[in-house]
Amino acid sequence: MAEEQSDARGEARQSFFAKQQLIASAKGIMQQLSSVVRSATLYPAAHPFLLQSADLLLAKIDGMSTARKALSFYIVNNELFFETHSVPIDQSLAFLVEDFIRRDIGGIVFKPGLTRDEIIRFSTLMNEEVAKFSMAGDVPAILEERKIGHIELHRVLLVDKKAVSAVKDARQRAGEVFMDAVTTVKEMVDAVGMEKAVNMRALNTMVHSMVDNVLENRDALMGLTSIKMYDEYTFAHSVNTSILAISLATYLSFEKPQIASLGVAGLLHDIGKVYIPHQIINKPDKLTDEEWEILKRHPVEGALILADVPGVTKLAMIGAFEHHQQGGARGYPSVGGVLYQHPFSQIIALADAYDAITAARVYYSVQTPPDKAVRILVAKRGSSFNPVLVKAFVNMVGLFPIGTLLKLNTGEIGLVVHQTRDLLRPHVLLLDKFDGSERENGKQVNLQETAGGKYKRTVVGTIDPYEEKINVKQYLG
Ligand SMILES: [Fe+2]
Ligand SMILES: [Fe+2]
Repeated sequence: MAEEQSDARGEARQSFFAKQQLIASAKGIMQQLSSVVRSATLYPAAHPFLLQSADLLLAKIDGMSTARKALSFYIVNNELFFETHSVPIDQSLAFLVEDFIRRDIGGIVFKPGLTRDEIIRFSTLMNEEVAKFSMAGDVPAILEERKIGHIELHRVLLVDKKAVSAVKDARQRAGEVFMDAVTTVKEMVDAVGMEKAVNMRALNTMVHSMVDNVLENRDALMGLTSIKMYDEYTFAHSVNTSILAISLATYLSFEKPQIASLGVAGLLHDIGKVYIPHQIINKPDKLTDEEWEILKRHPVEGALILADVPGVTKLAMIGAFEHHQQGGARGYPSVGGVLYQHPFSQIIALADAYDAITAARVYYSVQTPPDKAVRILVAKRGSSFNPVLVKAFVNMVGLFPIGTLLKLNTGEIGLVVHQTRDLLRPHVLLLDKFDGSERENGKQVNLQETAGGKYKRTVVGTIDPYEEKINVKQYLG
């Protein structure tokens, strides 16, 4: 009897682990599909990176389908299922699932005989406009025409709006993480300034909770970077740079340990400013040539400081030294020739520039709205910044990043609160404007919503919140 019981327990345990394994493999397939679809926006169809990524997906599918004829995934009520098992949707899958829903795709089946080329053709299709490719059209004919015979698509069964409370929870947690991060950076800067030991463990723990938060809900933490803190700007800038770098690395499907070390490097990139006089850092007027030369010393100072802190990764040192290099010999400090900027430094440089452009720093009387900042980065792609990274960054933050105020064709004003794969159609919070002040209309709408085959709302322009004196902060915090 006792033996029978322990056998039953053993079996139960085995089947539990087998199920977890199955779910993990199923999730791996969808993550890889997401990565191939995203790579197809960045690379041409014959690019080795894309081919490799599609091969990896094929290997994962083959690895799982030995005992099965076909692999079926379904989306029901915004939940992803592999056969009858629920697959948790985290940030790594959110874009793909959202994209499926937008195209009204509720099920995807990989059939035996699937080839790498079919995967690539399907990924290209997933990057076409919704009007051209969604379940509203003749999907079997499209798949046949594109020679994608081993992928079957089904319509969405039932779609529910995401639970509002879950989003609110994530926002609240993000707020706590953000404030914690500002405090941790402040403590670190104080310690360096007073030549005391730096608590790297606290900093690492901090970065891990930032990474977890971004993986859970990237928009919540990224939304906070658009709130510029006048008083704490120096610290908030480090935190913002770190969050944006973490988000971009997540978007690019980096491994978690890499994302974390990039997060640390982002937090520490400007640590060298500790040794630059406050009058120069906070000077409201234009810097003199001499002052500018002093400010330009901060990357070297930063690298020297970090070289002496035990437990700091070399990447943080490199990031501090190279973050103003602007891809070669253009930036500072001068290295007497062309320097190949480490990819991590390139990411930090982009995150740093975006935050600096949108910042409400003492020396700018006007702040630049996020959508204009994106356009500035786009204009500098290929000269100051890696064009592939700029493209990924724009895809991530959208042409209208979180915090942008939009003028809609309905006469309404919408504040961007969430990105979608359609760069021109984010989710917005409708604002009522009256008597020079404003209040939340409370309604969050998706600009992709249609009625009678037409979009319900379309962006006709952006509004400069600083000119119109609209305080976006209260809606994002
Ligand atoms: Fe800097
Ligand atoms: Fe910076």
